[in-house]
Amino acid sequence: MEILGIDIGGSGVKGAPVDLDRGELLAERVRLETPQPAKPKAVADLVAQVVKGFDWKSPIGVGFPGIMRRNIAYTAANLHSSWIDRDLGKLFGDVSSCPVGVINDADAAGLAEMTYGAGRGQSGAVLLLTLGTGIGSALFIDGHLYPNTEFGHLQFKKTIAEKCASSAARKERGLSWTEWGDDLNELLIHLKRIISPDLVIIGGGASSKFERFGSRIDCDLRVVPAQLMNNAGIIGAALAGREI
Ligand code: BGC
Repeated sequence: MEILGIDIGGSGVKGAPVDLDRGELLAERVRLETPQPAKPKAVADLVAQVVKGFDWKSPIGVGFPGIMRRNIAYTAANLHSSWIDRDLGKLFGDVSSCPVGVINDADAAGLAEMTYGAGRGQSGAVLLLTLGTGIGSALFIDGHLYPNTEFGHLQFKKTIAEKCASSAARKERGLSWTEWGDDLNELLIHLKRIISPDLVIIGGGASSKFERFGSRIDCDLRVVPAQLMNNAGIIGAALAGREI
């Protein structure tokens, strides 16, 4: 089955057709810069551009960086407040003329890793963290997703976790990968106290740099990099499109 997956992020909108039988992109992904301010109409125009570029006319799955229930956005911390309470299935459906399913971006990446990547066949509690503009989280219990966890918004070091340990925070704070790895390790220790996961998968932009900070992780948890790297968001978004 082939579905167009689109991953909306604070810095880029990425998309590609996905072969869901194999969990692979069918074409090179396109990436367009997220407009600032990232308001619904401007982002929907980019979604339409991606759809048109692939001449797509069938279902689409979208990963969105906020709490999502039945295609409605409840938060949009790193985009713009005008997203809140909007029906994104309708917004993106209207600009693309395709049926659209929308889920949280980290849940999408988690579904992809659990189906095709580092979480495949893993039972118990598996936590995926996406470290990018923000910190996204996806929690699985025996392979079942508990949707819309927001561990990036946990109170942490006098702020919230994503302001301290996301990839964007590393750059803003001028930290080396190892210095940042120490903060990430503290966050993992904090998460261990709360949910003691059996496996933690590190995804998002930082997953490709795992060898630069992995040695700082010393939290008595099994921590591995994502296998689908930065494509997990697109592949998982496509999985959401299958559910329409
Ligand atoms: C949002 C999450 C999202 C994460 C990664 C956070 O700021 O609240 O919903 O998954 O960023 O994009």
